[in-house]
Amino acid sequence: MFPRRRYTVAVLGATGAVGRELLQTLDQRRFPTAEVRALCSESSAGEELSFGKRTLRAHAVVPEQLEGVEILFVAAGDEAAARWIPAAREAGAVCVDVSRWSAAQADVPLAVPDLNAEVLADHTGLIASPCAAALVCAVALHPLRDLGLSHVDVTSLEPASGAGLGGLNELSKQTVSLLNFQPVDVEVHPHRLAFNVYPQVGDLGEGGASAGERALEQDLTRLLGVPTLATAVRVPVFVGTSVSVTARLQRSATLDEVRGRLEGVAGLTLVDAGYPMPMDVAEASDVRVGRLRVDGNVVRLWAVSDNLKRGAAVNLVQVAELLDAVWTAAQA
Ligand SMILES: NC(=O)c1ccc[n+]([C@@H]2O[C@H](COP(=O)([O-])OP(=O)(O)OC[C@H]3O[C@@H](n4cnc5c(N)ncnc54)[C@H](OP(=O)(O)O)[C@@H]3O)[C@@H](O)[C@H]2O)c1
Repeated sequence: MFPRRRYTVAVLGATGAVGRELLQTLDQRRFPTAEVRALCSESSAGEELSFGKRTLRAHAVVPEQLEGVEILFVAAGDEAAARWIPAAREAGAVCVDVSRWSAAQADVPLAVPDLNAEVLADHTGLIASPCAAALVCAVALHPLRDLGLSHVDVTSLEPASGAGLGGLNELSKQTVSLLNFQPVDVEVHPHRLAFNVYPQVGDLGEGGASAGERALEQDLTRLLGVPTLATAVRVPVFVGTSVSVTARLQRSATLDEVRGRLEGVAGLTLVDAGYPMPMDVAEASDVRVGRLRVDGNVVRLWAVSDNLKRGAAVNLVQVAELLDAVWTAAQA
């Protein structure tokens, strides 16, 4: 009998919204770590972060911090991913990245262990995690694939924390300022978000689609294998991505058939009493689905999850848990 393997892991972006949640999730799910390194840019170096009952000090990332790292979680944006992932892989780490840099590469597996654990068989040291809005849709819709899911039209309602810790703090400050009849600063978000809603998540690109819409369409099409149309809207909610979905099937189905497919699915909770809302899912690890309606071959539903927890941290740790299972089996 071999002793339980424990890993040297690093979190790049540990001082950010996803990184903090990731540290908490690694501890809560008791991922077997021997050492955890909290990495960030120069600007937050030295900050103290909670890791269960322990406190970690954040360090600015330098090549030496990657030495000996077996799993590098990347929650630091595209630029940092492009800069540090190649170096980390070279140094022997498997990288699990939640930025667009990896997700946009067609040959990098896009993993949601609850629905496509098999894609990890093909990884070459880099695994991508999808955007939070695609993840909530994919978990809610993948059970409908054997009913002939053929097309998805989705509107995502994305929270301030989707734009990182800066976005979350800006909504908070704007809200306090407005309630105190003070002028409002707009720096992180493109418009005032407090007491407002706007149809733009990320930069607008060629053809008018936003970065959030492109990510959602790209990731969901990859995860479910069906064409997707998306509209992404920023809403004045701190945490929790909601999606309003219209899905088409190749044949007619009944409400009972669709409900039957969604019941008892790992990571998914069907809400019958009322409907799920962002305030219900803070810190929850599941995707909640409600307002299920079926009309012939058209299924409409509403789904919600915590974008930082379920939409990022839990998925990253689930990937690491699968890597651990494979490595542990290989050692036996
Ligand atoms: N927020 C969400 O809901 C969500 C969901 C899914 C995926 N994601 C993705 O997760 C990533 C992180 O998002 P976030 O919301 O956590 O952002 P955030 O709160 O702004 O945090 C960014 C983190 O990255 C670090 N960082 C930035 N540039 C760096 C660099 N050049 N070198 C080293 N570290 C650097 C920051 O360090 P400092 O503190 O030192 O600046 C901070 O720790 C993004 O790719 C985002 O698209 C976010």
